[in-house]
Amino acid sequence: MTSQLDKDNLPEHIAIIMDGNGRWAKAKNRPRLFGHNAGMKTLKKIVRASSDAGIKIVTMYAFSTENWKRSQDEVDGLMNIAVEYFHKEVGELHENNVKINVIGNLERLSKKVRESAVKAMNTTAANTGLILNIALNYGGRDELIHAVKDLIGQGITAEEITEQHISDHLYTKGQPDPDLLIRTGGESRLSNFMLWQMAYTEFMFTDIFWPDFEVAVYYEMIHDYQKRNRRYGSAE
Ligand code: FPP
Repeated sequence: MTSQLDKDNLPEHIAIIMDGNGRWAKAKNRPRLFGHNAGMKTLKKIVRASSDAGIKIVTMYAFSTENWKRSQDEVDGLMNIAVEYFHKEVGELHENNVKINVIGNLERLSKKVRESAVKAMNTTAANTGLILNIALNYGGRDELIHAVKDLIGQGITAEEITEQHISDHLYTKGQPDPDLLIRTGGESRLSNFMLWQMAYTEFMFTDIFWPDFEVAVYYEMIHDYQKRNRRYGSAE
């Protein structure tokens, strides 16, 4: 399936908003967490497919700074899924040379979640294959506030500040900005995701709920991306 992709024009970095777990579960008369568990399976599938296609970086939006507003049951369930993912999947990810990088404000997470995330990052730190950013308690505005605070703390003056300074103080420092954003679940909005990094990202939306998202559709979207004319503000 990767054969239809132009290997010389792959998106280096793909960001994904995995939306629709709750509605997928509701349609089946099941609790929302049933949908999130199914969503974790899709995440695993898409990570593997990304490695297979030769994508360098994938960023998955797992939990936003606004998701704390959900019921305690759902928040706890999502955190348990995160811990399970970091524990159970790290072995296979490590074997496949995947480097896990958890982005977001980890301070508000419970000790258990934070420690499992740090352990997964440490285990895979030297890997040179796909970089898998998992956004957990992540908010684009929160990230920018942190960057500005860091810069002020370092004594950078208003005259000195450049775009590079900001980029270098985000959770994604050193990584290229996403080339492609995919959002499943039918909504066409950014929901506070990578606000700085997405200045010139190509957006693609699908009505498919995340648990039903298939590798074939993913590759089709990458194929469509390859037909886009990226101008970055220039005329040609
Ligand atoms: C959005 O669907 C999805 C989330 C807020 C959670 C995404 C999490 C996973 C796919 C599990 C994997 C997580 C980790 C850490 C490995 P929604 O609940 O907003 O769906 P709805 O819009 O249909 O209600």
